[in-house]
Amino acid sequence: MRIAPVAAIEGHVAVPGDKSISHRAVLIASLCAGDTRITGFGRSADTEATVAAVRRLGVDVEETDVDALLVRSRGLRELTPPAEPIDCANAGTLMRLLAGVLAGQRGRFELVGDESLSTRPMERIAEPLRRMGAAVETTDGHAPLFVEGAALHAIDYRLPVASAQVKSAVLLAGIQAEGRTTVVESIPTRDHTERLLERAGVAVTRRPGSVSIEGAHELALGEVEVAGDFSSAAPFLVAAATVPGSALTVHGVGLNPRRTGLLDVLEHMGARIAIYNRRSVAGEPVGEVEIRASELVGATVSAEEVPSLIDELPLLALAACHARGDTVVRGAGELRVKESDRLAAIVEELRRLGAHVRATRDGFRVKGVPARLRGGVVDSRGDHRLAMLGAIAGVSSREGVELRGADAVDVSFPGFFELLEQVAPGSVHYPPPA
Ligand code: S3P
Repeated sequence: MRIAPVAAIEGHVAVPGDKSISHRAVLIASLCAGDTRITGFGRSADTEATVAAVRRLGVDVEETDVDALLVRSRGLRELTPPAEPIDCANAGTLMRLLAGVLAGQRGRFELVGDESLSTRPMERIAEPLRRMGAAVETTDGHAPLFVEGAALHAIDYRLPVASAQVKSAVLLAGIQAEGRTTVVESIPTRDHTERLLERAGVAVTRRPGSVSIEGAHELALGEVEVAGDFSSAAPFLVAAATVPGSALTVHGVGLNPRRTGLLDVLEHMGARIAIYNRRSVAGEPVGEVEIRASELVGATVSAEEVPSLIDELPLLALAACHARGDTVVRGAGELRVKESDRLAAIVEELRRLGAHVRATRDGFRVKGVPARLRGGVVDSRGDHRLAMLGAIAGVSSREGVELRGADAVDVSFPGFFELLEQVAPGSVHYPPPA
């Protein structure tokens, strides 16, 4: 696919429902007693894998609309082991959170994933789940993963890595455990699981640096509306921040402060951002984000800020290429174990477009110049976030980008290119049919 440069990014858009919340809504709904209606569901390859997974576990999911589901489940400990392994496809969130769910169920479950997911670290969830009493086996630290459920006991657990997926796995096991489970995190990570569990009637106690939950007897969610995905808005926000003359508004986007670190950093860099119509949707802050292009300067991102923009760091690197001066990101070693080694990918792919960027021990450094990058070839490496990075690099470049592996966007955002064409007319050129 070819992405051509455009003069400006303009318009009003809405993005699909949040991927992190969509996964959680389906998983928690599958433990509820009775029906859960989910609207604004962010349909993508990742979240469809979650729907398929809970169906295999005996939960009835009716697709009442393109973005609406009716989940009919039987209660907290009523999932049943399927004969075949459960396929988590490319979705790390699914595999790790589902392991936490299954730790308290009856039976033995096998979880498998695609090639990328099968290289990602799984001992980080196996270890705390074993401490709670489940039998969890990894394959040399990776998937295939085998979970044998048990009567769990509560634990106090300090996260060894800043990971919302690990925290969530422990919490989802914790609701099925006897007693009070506490997770301590030295750096705050996204808290969608805590928020949804609270809505489902779980006793959740939040303190700075920790969250505790009590074992539950019955969960009920009723209705959940999923906020727009900030991570899907991010490519458009970065495009508008960097292409001179741009003005863009993204409507109904999730503004959970543990997800919007990109806005804070862009603001520090001099971006013109306005947020209005702040409201709450199913316990999550939401609003409209308006962004206009401006001259940017470099910024420093510390380890404490990283979880709040972990999935946006590739896009931040691109914004930094357009900013005057140096941008330094530290404490981002986790990028090496995402859907691809994103640290290597950011450096290698952006360099090919003419950027001055290099990897450091646990992050990267960009020497920015307030001008468009030349352009060239970007390979997504099968990673959805890199495919979107390549597309935005294309619209903001001088010569455009030939984007290889563009279909990786389907993992989180199947309508991405249609929306890009809407705000950047003439940018998206599909290859002729083979
Ligand atoms: C996610 C947490 C993050 C993030 C991922 C989604 C989640 O991963 O990178 O895309 O939904 O909990 P880690 O928790 O492993 O950092």
